[in-house]
Amino acid sequence: MKLLIACFSAEHGKTLKIAKDAALALGADLFEIKPERVYTEADLNWKNPLARCNREKFGNRDVPVVGRIEGFDEYDAVLLGFPIWYGGAPNVVNTFCKGYSWYGKRIAAFATSGGSGIGKTAERLRPFVAGGELLDARLVHNSLELEAWVRDIL
Ligand SMILES: Cc1cc2nc3c(=O)[nH]c(=O)nc-3n(C[C@H](O)[C@H](O)[C@H](O)COP(=O)(O)O)c2cc1C
Repeated sequence: MKLLIACFSAEHGKTLKIAKDAALALGADLFEIKPERVYTEADLNWKNPLARCNREKFGNRDVPVVGRIEGFDEYDAVLLGFPIWYGGAPNVVNTFCKGYSWYGKRIAAFATSGGSGIGKTAERLRPFVAGGELLDARLVHNSLELEAWVRDIL
């Protein structure tokens, strides 16, 4: 099985660290989902109603991503990693997903959070990976937990 891990991470690099360690352990390829315009600390200050994160979220905006994955069609399974933002995947992850055909792929999503549960993350993500089989989404705290889960479901 050819596995890709596609991961977005912003605040502390927490989600990316887990993704990198898991990619090594699982022999997966890793693609970092980077927004064309890097997030500054002010951009991420959700306490400010005018901050970029709030404008993107509440304006339902697309967030363009740097680069493209060559040979995306060859992957059997894709793990999507991201921090929970507003109870689900950040807009940049949705924009990333819109750029590819998910037909026939097995997909699982993992997330870190500041305390929220996984909530409706899977349901909210599902329309963006239409055609693929989104198995589940779950919170993870370290790469060992992620690796064990992936071996179990994929
Ligand atoms: C714009 C924004 C929205 C967030 N929304 C939530 C949320 O709804 N629930 C939660 O528990 N944490 C929330 N967080 C916190 C992140 O999920 C948490 O800090 C995450 O582990 C950061 O991962 P990273 O270092 O990979 O970016 C939010 C953070 C930001 C910047």
